[in-house]
Amino acid sequence: MKYRTNGIIPPPIVKLAEAAKRFSSSPRFLNLGQGLPGHIPPEDALSSLKERISHPTTHVYTPDEGLLELREEIALYVRQKFDIDSDPHNEIVITAGANNAFAGVILTLVEPNQNVIMPSPYYFNSVMAVNLASAEIKAVSVDSNFQPNVNDIETAIDEKTCAIFLISPNNPTGAVYDRNKIDAIVDLCLQHDIMLISDETYSSMVFEGAEHYSPRVRREAEHNVITIGSFSKDFGMSGWRVGYVIGSQEFTKEFLKVQDTMTICAPTAGQILALEVLKKGLDTVELELQRLSHLRNLAYLRVREIDALDVVHTKGTFYLFPRVKDCQDSRKLVMDILQSTGTLILPGAIFGEDGEGHVRISIGPLTPEAVDEAFDRLSDFFKKN
Ligand SMILES: Cc1ncc(COP(=O)(O)O)c(C=O)c1O
Repeated sequence: MKYRTNGIIPPPIVKLAEAAKRFSSSPRFLNLGQGLPGHIPPEDALSSLKERISHPTTHVYTPDEGLLELREEIALYVRQKFDIDSDPHNEIVITAGANNAFAGVILTLVEPNQNVIMPSPYYFNSVMAVNLASAEIKAVSVDSNFQPNVNDIETAIDEKTCAIFLISPNNPTGAVYDRNKIDAIVDLCLQHDIMLISDETYSSMVFEGAEHYSPRVRREAEHNVITIGSFSKDFGMSGWRVGYVIGSQEFTKEFLKVQDTMTICAPTAGQILALEVLKKGLDTVELELQRLSHLRNLAYLRVREIDALDVVHTKGTFYLFPRVKDCQDSRKLVMDILQSTGTLILPGAIFGEDGEGHVRISIGPLTPEAVDEAFDRLSDFFKKN
């Protein structure tokens, strides 16, 4: 049988997880592959959900666009934290996570054979979504600090370009994009009347004085900018599948056609939990982010001790994305590391050609002791190899 999806790459993380299975039952196994934070939602929010769990409304659909109370709370949150103005009644849609939001945005916007420009290395799921829509990606290499190259992006725009896709803070590089770069890309989108899709899944995970800047702040560009948010990382809720999109009323009306077809609505219990986290849990989440900040400091100190790893010190997320000296095949390298140290990290090659020669190290769920142990092991490995 021939399937429409035959040409789409299988999810690379699933393949790696399979390869790691042989090692994962060992008490020595250390997982620095998964893109997860170490925290779960705050206790107060969980207690409120427990109180509502037997209520019949927790077990049925919400409106396609999600609970109004949650949309209102998100509007308040993004206003207070990022200066984004949004109308909860018709500019916000709750989705089953950011991936679901991105796929929905692509299916709403992109015609077959059009293209979406993305800085590279890129997040592979985005490529899968664009290809599923029978469209192409145009990868544009980032600069040496992992910032988008505005001139190269401008050069890449052609008559088939539908959108530019940015992720800041970035997976896999951790880069927090400069405000002036983002503004320049908004200007390009206005000039060429194309869409800027801004994935802000890690918006709270900015450290060392960096600030997250959302292009949705540019109210005059409201028809050309779509913001995607997630409760998975900042709020430790990946299993609950809750995210959101913010766009113009005209856009969300169209987006809801895809939403109703694909999921109807985001999971109701997850929406209730997200609402409770925003109402009661922000202080606790802030403490978790401070914990993460200490872990990052430790990891950046330790990674510098390894001569074979050349790291750009970025200020967002819990990912480090060092270049490995003389590495031509990062897939083989991570398998060698896994086999000889029981430590899983991800090969940069799964984030596109520009990622080759790098590895992604995720410290999100680790304790400081585990971070130390992981870097001891990596250090030993590179001394011997
Ligand atoms: C940039 C980016 N966007 C989206 C997602 C998926 O988020 P969600 O769990 O909300 O679908 C991830 C997960 O790793 C990510 O790194």
